[in-house]
Amino acid sequence: MPLIEWKSEYDTGIESIDKQHRRLVNMINALDRSRKDNNSDRTIRNVMIAIANYTKLHFADEENLMRKLEFDELEYHQGLHNKLREQVVNILTRIGTDQHYNINNLIQFLSNWLLNHISKEDQKIGARAKSISASNNSQNEHILLNNDDFSRMLS
Ligand SMILES: [Fe+2]
Ligand SMILES: [Fe+2]
Repeated sequence: MPLIEWKSEYDTGIESIDKQHRRLVNMINALDRSRKDNNSDRTIRNVMIAIANYTKLHFADEENLMRKLEFDELEYHQGLHNKLREQVVNILTRIGTDQHYNINNLIQFLSNWLLNHISKEDQKIGARAKSISASNNSQNEHILLNNDDFSRMLS
């Protein structure tokens, strides 16, 4: 059984962001699988590097979207992303060099952080996107922003 099962309450309603979140969840599940299979530190470190790279890409996409949506908590949200970016760099230096480093704690930390962040913070971006869609729709000035529009914003 995977460590994290996706729940519909994690969806923000922005398809491109939800896809990236699901992929991050799959990657953390792969890291957990790797631990259960007793893979070497080197293998675990490679999985962790893949997570770090994909997280970087996801944060950049999400921050771009927040800018385009003129999201008022952009700075605060970016601060949370930056803090995690730093923690991931620390984790990467510790794997393989620190005897006391604990892979179980790392996996727990990453999965807690991600699920908590998606449920609390990223949901607000979804709400902002929905409110823009709704007001555009009611004013009849623009065509309703759909998932394709958001995908284009991110490309
Ligand atoms: Fe975020
Ligand atoms: Fe996110």
